[in-house]
Amino acid sequence: MRIYECADYHAMSRRAANLISAQVILQPDCVLGLATGATPVGLYDQLVEWYRKGDLSFAETRTVNLDEYLGLAPTHRQSYRYFMQKHLFDHIDIKLENTHVLNGLAPDPQAECAAYNRLIRDLGGIDLQLLGMGHNGHIAFNEPSDNFGLETHVVNLSESTIDANQRFFASREEVPRQALSMGIKNIMHARRILVVVGGADKADMVCKAFTGPVTSQVPASVLQLHPDVTLVGDRAALSRLKEAGVSVCG
Ligand code: GLP
Repeated sequence: MRIYECADYHAMSRRAANLISAQVILQPDCVLGLATGATPVGLYDQLVEWYRKGDLSFAETRTVNLDEYLGLAPTHRQSYRYFMQKHLFDHIDIKLENTHVLNGLAPDPQAECAAYNRLIRDLGGIDLQLLGMGHNGHIAFNEPSDNFGLETHVVNLSESTIDANQRFFASREEVPRQALSMGIKNIMHARRILVVVGGADKADMVCKAFTGPVTSQVPASVLQLHPDVTLVGDRAALSRLKEAGVSVCG
C-alpha cells in the first residue's frame, strides 16, 4: 500500500485528483468508481479545473458510483446522483449515458442491485475505485456488521452514519434510513483503489483500518487484503497511523 501525506485538504485533493487524472490520461475509456461525501468535493473541483484548462478529457470515460439513498429521486438535492451532477458531471465532457448511479426510486430495489452487479461486470470491472471512509470505518454504505456485504445490496444505515450525514439534510428525520450500496466484493474486485481521508476526527479509524485486524466490524480494514491500494490523507488523518510506526511518503 502506498500512503501519501499531504499538508492540508487542498493538497490532499490535488494529489488525489492527480492520481485520477493519470488513470484517465493513460486509459481514456477506463471505468472509474466514484464516491460522494464531503471529502471528494475538493478533488472533483480540481478535476473540473484541469478539464477547463484543456488538460483532461472524460469523453470516453465510464463511471459507476458506490451508493445511493433509498427513496430519494435523482433530482433530490441530497441524492448522490444530484451530488455527482453538481460537483462533476455537469462541468466536464463526460457522456451522461456513461455515468451510472443506483436508482434510489427503483420499484424493486433487489432487482436494481442485481442489475448494478451485471452492469459492473458488463463494463469489464472497475479500473480505479475512489473511496472515502466513514467515522465508523464504513466504505460506500457497508456498515460495521457481523459479515461483509458482498455484492450490491440494500443497507440499513447505522445510527452513527445517520448522525454523521444529517449535516447535509434539514433535520435528522429527513435522512433516509436505507441505502443501496456496492458490496465489499464489488469494491475489492476493482483493479486499483484510491482512499482519500482527511481530518483529525478520522485519525483513530484510519489507524484501526490499516493496522488493526481485518474484520467486518471495521469494513475499511478489508482493504489491507487488496493488492493495489493508495491512501491519500492530510496530516491530521494520518497522525495516528504514523504514531503506530507506518511509513508514509510526502
Ligand atoms: C457517506 C458515503 C461514503 C463516504 C462517507 C464519508 O456515508 N456513503 O461513501 O465515504 O459518507 O463521508 P465524508 O467524506 O463526508 O466524511
